[in-house]
Parts: sequence; structure tokens; C-alpha cells
Amino acid sequence: MLLIKSLQGERIERFPLWLMRQAGRYMPQYRALREQERDFLAFCKNVELAVRASLLPVELLGVDAVIIFSDILVPLEPAGIGVEFSEGEGPRLQWDGKVESLKRINFSQVEFVGEIIRGVKTQVKDIPVIGFCGAPFTLMAYAIEGGSSKDFKKTKLFMWQRREECRRFVSLLVDNLLEYLKGQIRAGADVVQIFDSWAMHMPYEDFEEYAQTYLKALFQELKSFSGVPLIYFFRGSGSFLKALEGLPVDALSVDWTVDMVGAMRESSKAFQGNLDPAVLYCHEDTIVKKTHELLRCIPRKTKYVFNLGHGLMPDMDLEKVRLLVRTVKEFRLS
Ligand code: CP3
Repeated sequence: MLLIKSLQGERIERFPLWLMRQAGRYMPQYRALREQERDFLAFCKNVELAVRASLLPVELLGVDAVIIFSDILVPLEPAGIGVEFSEGEGPRLQWDGKVESLKRINFSQVEFVGEIIRGVKTQVKDIPVIGFCGAPFTLMAYAIEGGSSKDFKKTKLFMWQRREECRRFVSLLVDNLLEYLKGQIRAGADVVQIFDSWAMHMPYEDFEEYAQTYLKALFQELKSFSGVPLIYFFRGSGSFLKALEGLPVDALSVDWTVDMVGAMRESSKAFQGNLDPAVLYCHEDTIVKKTHELLRCIPRKTKYVFNLGHGLMPDMDLEKVRLLVRTVKEFRLS
């Protein structure tokens, strides 16, 4: 499996790739599947539809990995947090504000995720299946804000004024995410990615405590549980790389604000990223040029996975995404 080989530093002939939010609304075929189940969470729980959505990027793009179709908010529901998606509005979460009311989860409550992984694995050969979860900070921020936010004001006040409760909340999420990811690994996930989409809202000193205490606990326990490679995606700050260097995660997935190429020279970790997804709004020749510019700069011939710095957007053009995939796959490492 090319992607695993690259993560582990083995020799490869070309860089592997997959794309964050590769199964999504920019694909007419995905929109057609969604017509069969309009409620997004119900779609995530419908094993047959979720398996079909997971496989679309392999069928239509030819990417080198399948990320299972689900959402980072799925394991919050059994923890006692209400999760709802209303069309076009993004997620809405309901939490009573009391850390004591949050519950430990058991994988049997989200067994559909295991079934999706097993279902995908029966359909693909030689392509790894990526399991995933949201990182503790990002999930806590969703719960506290009640959805997406521009300034993360409530989360910051909670972090700084209710520190002990915040620590208990993050700790409980670490326990729940361990249960959740171990279940995914048992079901057959070949790689696991942890999405910290809101990490950039943390000041450096808070991030340091978070990484050294909570991310460390999460990654270490997963590493002692299995040899499955772990990828940590965070948005926003190159300075966070310092706090992550010693943690047992195989790869760092970074966005376009990070000097990934410079960071790769100083780190022994694998890297994933970091083309700005907005490049896909450009003309074809610009897409090819920007992709080549990035690939030519990669200072090694392995331990790299091509990806975007963040997810594909619903208004992107499938043909341009296909061109991007072809461009990366045709780029030879000599
Ligand atoms: O193809 C894949 O990447 C796999 C599936 C996947 C989805 N969400 C499907 C989805 C994955 C890995 C995610 C992760 C996720 N979900 C993240 C982390 C990555 C990131 O983008 O930062 C976050 C922050 C979420 C929370 C979330 N879910 C948001 C903010 C939204 C968008 C709301 C909207 O309507 O624009 C979602 C919904 C969602 N998750 C969609 C998809 C395809 C779109 C909803 C739809 O199809 O109707």
C-alpha cells in the first residue's frame, strides 16, 4: 500500500495522495446519494449509503486511500451532546454546560462506523482505509460554541475561567476517542487521522499543555494498542510543530500557513499537505503549475503524502479535482 509505505519511509516511485473531504457535495454522484437520505446524521448512520459515499473518490478520482464517510461530531451524540445538521447551516450542538453530565461511550453505540469500515474493506484491495476522529480540543469547542464560530469566545472563556472543568472535559474526550479509534482499528482501519480543525484558536501556551498532556496520552495509548500509522491534522500555526515533535504520531498534516517544506527538513516525521484548496478555483494551467511547484520542493522522496491544506469545497469542479489527482500521480520521483 503506497500510502503506508510512504508514511513508514519506504522507497516509493511516486507520492501517494488523498484529499480531505474527498467525498462531498462537489460530486454530482454524492449529491444523488444524499437525495436518498436528506438528514446528514442519518446518512452517516446508513451503512450502505456511507460505504457507497466512501468509495466514490476511488471510483471517480483514483485516489490512493479511502477515508470512511462519517463526521467528527458522530461520537459526541452518545456522550450526551445533541448533534443536528440543518441543510446549508452547518452543525448545531446542544450541551447543558455541565461536564458531569457527559458520558463515557462504548463502541457498540456507534457500531455502524465499524460496519462501514468492514463494508469498505470488502470493496477495495491494495488501498488503505483511513479511520478518523476529531481532536479533543476541536470537539470540545464545537460543544461549547454550539456549532461553528468565528471568534471562539465561549471556548476561550471556558478554557481560562473554568480550567479544571475544561481539563475534565478534554480528559473525558480522550477516553471516548480512544474507545472510538480502537473500535475503528479493530474493524480494520489501516491508518487513523485526528482532525484538529480549530487548533489555531489556541494560544501557544495552552496548545503546549494540551499537546503534552492530552494529545500525548491519546497518541501513546493508540501506539501501544496497534501499529496503525497516526496522522495529526491541525490548522494554523507552524510554531505548534515544536510542541508536537516529541509526540508519537507518524505524520503531521498541515495547512498552507505552515512552512511545511522547511519543517520537513528539521523533522523526522512524515508530512501531509499542504496545497491551498483555493488553487482549485484557478485555471487548469495554474492548478498544474502550483501542484508541480509544491511537489518539486518536497525535500525527500518518501515520508510525504500529498493532500490539501484543508478540505475540498462544495462549489469546486470535479474535473479540476481530477486534473489535480492526475498531476500528482504522474509526478515521478527519480
Ligand atoms: O470525504 C471525507 O473527507 C470523509 C468525510 C468527512 C466529512 N466530515 C463529511 C461531511 C470528514 C473526514 C469530516 C470531518 C469534519 N467534519 C471536520 C474536520 C475536517 C475539517 O473540515 O476541518 C469538521 C470540522 C466537521 C464538522 C462539519 N461537518 C462541518 C463544519 C460541516 C459543514 C456544514 C455544511 O453544511 O457546510 C459538516 C458536514 C459534512 N461533513 C459534509 C460532509 C460531506 C457536508 C454535509 C452534506 O453533505 O450535506
